[in-house]
Amino acid sequence: MEKRSHWSSRLSFILVAIGSAVGLGNIWKFPYIAGENGGGLFVLIYLICIMVIGLPIFIAELYVGQKSQSNLVTAFEVLDKKKSKWAIVGWLGLVSAFLILSFYSVVGGWIIDYLVKSLTFSFSGKTDSQVQNMMTELFSSPFKQIGLHLLFMFLTFGIVIGGIAKGIERWSNILMPCFFVLLTGLLIYSATTPGFSQALSFLFSFNADKLTAAGVLEAVGHSFFTLSLGMGAIITYGSYLSPKENLLGTAVLIGFMDTIVALSSGIIIFSIVFSYNLDPSSGPTLMFQTLPVLFAKTPGGEYVSIAFFGLVLFAALTSAISLLEVMVSYFDESLNWDRKKTTSIICILLFLLGILSALSTNILSTFYVVKKLTFFDTFDQLTSHYALPLGGLFISLFFGWKVGADKINEMVKNQLIAGVILWSTRVVAPLAILAMIINSIF
Ligand code: PHE
Repeated sequence: MEKRSHWSSRLSFILVAIGSAVGLGNIWKFPYIAGENGGGLFVLIYLICIMVIGLPIFIAELYVGQKSQSNLVTAFEVLDKKKSKWAIVGWLGLVSAFLILSFYSVVGGWIIDYLVKSLTFSFSGKTDSQVQNMMTELFSSPFKQIGLHLLFMFLTFGIVIGGIAKGIERWSNILMPCFFVLLTGLLIYSATTPGFSQALSFLFSFNADKLTAAGVLEAVGHSFFTLSLGMGAIITYGSYLSPKENLLGTAVLIGFMDTIVALSSGIIIFSIVFSYNLDPSSGPTLMFQTLPVLFAKTPGGEYVSIAFFGLVLFAALTSAISLLEVMVSYFDESLNWDRKKTTSIICILLFLLGILSALSTNILSTFYVVKKLTFFDTFDQLTSHYALPLGGLFISLFFGWKVGADKINEMVKNQLIAGVILWSTRVVAPLAILAMIINSIF
């Protein structure tokens, strides 16, 4: 067996893991679902989910990866026994990763298109409706959508094929610091816009009117999606950690940073929404139809626009590579293929599946898989509402009951914290996930 690669330092691991967690989920999805669900109370439930369910499961996944030093399927066999039934959790993760990356890449394509529009100053001097029509135009063109999806897949492929040190780690270590500089700049900028205080009160004052059971489901599901949980990305990244590294502090730091980015993106986007009287509940197009309106009007807006879409592209890429690595590391190790071959085959299949999502806003826009859901919506909801929470439920039970109290005490020296983690993963998180799934079915 080849010696397993390891991250070169703790900081480097923190950057790649934040790179995986921080992505379209934080910048594109969080603001629009918060908008659709009325803000405040939804945000509170989301924050509670991150702490009560997300963090314990994050620690569990890191542990499973680090201690097994294996891909997400073999990991359960190493920690339990050969042919362990728990390995099914790994398989579920592979399917989730495949489905998520197929539509994630389509959204990644939209970002590339908007970055190109920004770089060519296409928003300048346009009226609000002209700017908003740009999205409609993009959505209605099947070829453009497929081409952009191909381009995003190709970039992801180009990074992952380089391997752990020369691909994933090198690129995350460049892109993530740039991301944080741009984010801070935009946050400061949004504080100067007239809608800033309304954005804060929208996100942080509790208005129970709009929240529904479906909204709660969305918040629980999103806490998995945003932390890259429930499908083995964190197990896989954890497996490249040296077995001695301390996990607790790292997990808390990553969860904290992910939340800060989501809230900051919400503040930036809603400041603009309220400054220009736009509709906060306009759904998935929120980011694409609101921000460019501002970029078209403000002097220097072109540059802010380049910074913004550049930032989103960095975040999307560093998440996409973690989704791809989950699959590559498994097939690479279990089939003994080389990395080039594995990465190429998986990317071609992903490209083909992604075409269904790319066509969901045009040719296939009225083709419903179930209940008014296009392919795009189906892949999105199937994974974030069901597959990730279910994967998380099993990982949580595995950690709480199989790995168990002794190992947790060994890892976390503080008894109180160890107890909280033990009972969260044994009982609290699984019950919360079950309640949420049952609630959504009935
Ligand atoms: N966490 C990423 C985001 O917020 C998405 C993701 C999900 C990445 C699952 C890896 C695994 O965009």
